[in-house]
Amino acid sequence: TATPLQYRVADLSLAESGRHQIRLAEHEMPGLMALREEFGPHQPLKGARITGSLHMTVQTAVLIETLVALGAEVRWASCNIFSTQDEAAAAVVVGNGTVDDPQGSPVFAWKGETLDEYWWCTEQIFDWSAHGHNGPNMILDDGGDATMLVHKGVEFEAAGAVPEPQASDPAEWRVVLGVLAKNLAEAPGKWTEISGDIIGVSEETTTGVHRLYEFFKAGSLLFPAINVNDSVTKTKFDNKYGIRHSLIDGLNRATDTLIGGKVALVAGYGDVGKGSAESLRGQGARVIVTEIDPICALQAAMDGYQVAKLESVIDQVDIFVTSTGNKDVFTLDHLLAMKHQAIVANVGHFDNEIDIAGLESLKGATSIEIKPQVHEWQLPNGRSVLMLSEGRLMNLGNATGHPSFVMSTSFANQVLAQIELFQFPDAYPIGVHLLPKKLDEKVARLHLDALGVELTELSDEQAAYIGVAKEGPYKVDHYRY
Ligand code: NAI
Repeated sequence: TATPLQYRVADLSLAESGRHQIRLAEHEMPGLMALREEFGPHQPLKGARITGSLHMTVQTAVLIETLVALGAEVRWASCNIFSTQDEAAAAVVVGNGTVDDPQGSPVFAWKGETLDEYWWCTEQIFDWSAHGHNGPNMILDDGGDATMLVHKGVEFEAAGAVPEPQASDPAEWRVVLGVLAKNLAEAPGKWTEISGDIIGVSEETTTGVHRLYEFFKAGSLLFPAINVNDSVTKTKFDNKYGIRHSLIDGLNRATDTLIGGKVALVAGYGDVGKGSAESLRGQGARVIVTEIDPICALQAAMDGYQVAKLESVIDQVDIFVTSTGNKDVFTLDHLLAMKHQAIVANVGHFDNEIDIAGLESLKGATSIEIKPQVHEWQLPNGRSVLMLSEGRLMNLGNATGHPSFVMSTSFANQVLAQIELFQFPDAYPIGVHLLPKKLDEKVARLHLDALGVELTELSDEQAAYIGVAKEGPYKVDHYRY
């Protein structure tokens, strides 16, 4: 192309290592590779300009290259300041080219961004001027930051003003307000114009989906969305089996503390909490669960876990994990009541599950960096706590996120969602949609052979007896798995 490839990553010379890891990951991602084979010749994403905001890992590299193989152009950023694997980012940029002449896709992501850099990267993925366009026509989001930026940009343009940042606002929100104020001064109307071209968004995670439903309820959702998270082959696999792998991976890489025999507490017994509790129990920890929902509390009890209030057990716990998607779960008072050298970890999407701001402003508290993403907070009471990834997603900050196979199920849903929105926009009016169950079942089917699964086929009589078509869908929509 005439314009040189735009990108900002840590170090392009890591591309070769990244490429080897991507090659191995492709073998472990049968769903994505099957979609390349099925759809590659038809180029269903030709003309799609996808702005992607999702952890820039090796697995995401396979997703990006699948979207490109189906005809799309992408511009990519990570959705977390610590989650990028720099070698994967470099390999995606280099593509089929060389370090001196990169020919891949534009990526703006590196491990250890500041908040200002993070939002700079997010702005870059909306600037499609180098491709001869104003903005993207699709968003692929994880946690909803990219979607939120468009929505807030449009909202403030309509109001003609961006609110003044308040000292009480979270640091991140103050940065966002700064970006949007600059945009409004320099390019008024920018976000309204960008929004007008967007056909839709596919959203990866529980927290991002929550934000989309909020926009929809408020009547302010600007374009249709597909809720990828609630495909069964996403939330019941990635959230659960993915964290079962990557939570203890993060704990081990960060601390190398023996988990067996310890007391671990998991806040929240949703899909991520269930996987977290199982993985800690698998290591021999005694696991205590906290819940606010009686159904999930009862599930945890029936699964054999003690269910308690945090306050009742806090002095017994060695490892604290929060997985709620809620805020203020581990407060400053909790942090001060913890055992000496308790480990504190967050696997929910945003860092506000733990009161880091409270720690930072606590007189007499000091933070010592043991190594990147591992901090010992020495407290005025003479004890300390070990804070992982500064209170952010630790399975991506301290380890490398979920492994390839389970991300293949999630990302196959992402690819199908992008195709659906781009090819059949009329089928998806403004709102938050699920993929049809047939596609959910298809994603599962694409992963059976690799695991040597033999699927039983219904006879005609059996299919008629239970009232389903032989080729599916096999369950009613409200079935919960
Ligand atoms: P979920 O809604 O299934 O589970 C959350 C659970 O937390 C619910 O059962 C809820 O009742 C409970 N809860 C809420 N407030 C609580 C409180 N104050 N104390 C105790 N329990 C409380 O959601 P899911 O799918 O498990 O996701 C949880 C979070 O993890 C979300 O932020 C999601 O985006 C994120 N996530 C993180 C992943 C990772 O790789 N670390 C992967 C997938 C999701």
